[in-house]
Amino acid sequence: MGILDGKVAIVTGGGRGLGRAHCLALAEAGATVVVNDLGSGLHGEHTAESPADEVVTEIVKLGGQASANHSSVSDWAATEALVAETVEQYGRLDIVVNNAGIVRDRMLFSMTEADFDSVIAVHLKGTFALTRHACAYWRDAAKRGEPVAGRIINTTSGTGLFGNAGQANYGAAKAGIAGLTVITAIEMRKYGVTANAISPLAATRMTAGLAVGEAEAMGGFDPRDPANASGVVVYLASDAAAWLTGQVLRVDGDKLNRLRGWTVTDVQPSRSGGALTPEELAETVPQLYGVAPLGRATGVGQ
Ligand SMILES: NC(=O)c1ccc[n+]([C@@H]2O[C@H](COP(=O)([O-])OP(=O)(O)OC[C@H]3O[C@@H](n4cnc5c(N)ncnc54)[C@H](O)[C@@H]3O)[C@@H](O)[C@H]2O)c1
Repeated sequence: MGILDGKVAIVTGGGRGLGRAHCLALAEAGATVVVNDLGSGLHGEHTAESPADEVVTEIVKLGGQASANHSSVSDWAATEALVAETVEQYGRLDIVVNNAGIVRDRMLFSMTEADFDSVIAVHLKGTFALTRHACAYWRDAAKRGEPVAGRIINTTSGTGLFGNAGQANYGAAKAGIAGLTVITAIEMRKYGVTANAISPLAATRMTAGLAVGEAEAMGGFDPRDPANASGVVVYLASDAAAWLTGQVLRVDGDKLNRLRGWTVTDVQPSRSGGALTPEELAETVPQLYGVAPLGRATGVGQ
């Protein structure tokens, strides 16, 4: 018995890297997997490759059930059809793993409109489009009185959460995905759907040439293996994680990090009890950040 027996999952960008590892792990746990991947190049360029079919073949060889879908996640109608066709073929949809991605890195003063639009389209719009159509399906099912245990698992990144030079487009999309995860969790809780995000670290073509995690394999364990993040995906997809929603989990090799988003750390009320004035703020904002106001030679925070 697998912990996902009888469940049906869609994994976007499931043909390579992290998505492929997630597909194999979900199938091994018993889920039927729809492997979505349009087989694009790293920067979104067209290729003749069909990695989704290769992953389906792998899963079937291992005794699992899978089918391929070759649509782009940024195509609104195609993602709507992906949900509808999955439900038509397998009778249900339980798990959506939004993972597809591309990069077009440049410093923001050199970034073109196309660099920005294409990365936002795949990551942020793509995550929204499939989430939106899946959530409409789950809401309709809940309204019909059917039991729903929907799972959205999004993919954010350290760039979106902490920042990274040269990735304004990618980081904005990944920060947007973290925010979208929280809102999906809030809106869908009453329909029996959870939404969480992972922030993985893995050696894939996307990170080729970058230092990812620790360089040395640790006693046979490769901290950069994309499959390291897949156990967390399977867990989040399972009934055991029904209580957990709106969270971002960073998977770094064998370590799981709980992340907290923006939080209020200090409060500075206005002295008058009314609106904060620029004059007052010249005093209170430095206090808030523990630095001296301009013109005072205390040396604090210099
Ligand atoms: N590798 C890392 O260390 C790392 C770190 C943080 C986040 N991520 C995120 O993990 C996800 C997977 O990255 P990866 O490293 O496995 O990259 P990858 O390039 O190996 O795989 C991405 C897959 O997405 C597919 N894809 C691209 N555009 C698509 C589209 N419009 N529709 C459908 N499929 C599409 C590609 O064909 C490719 O197979 C991405 O969202 C990435 O941003 C990766």
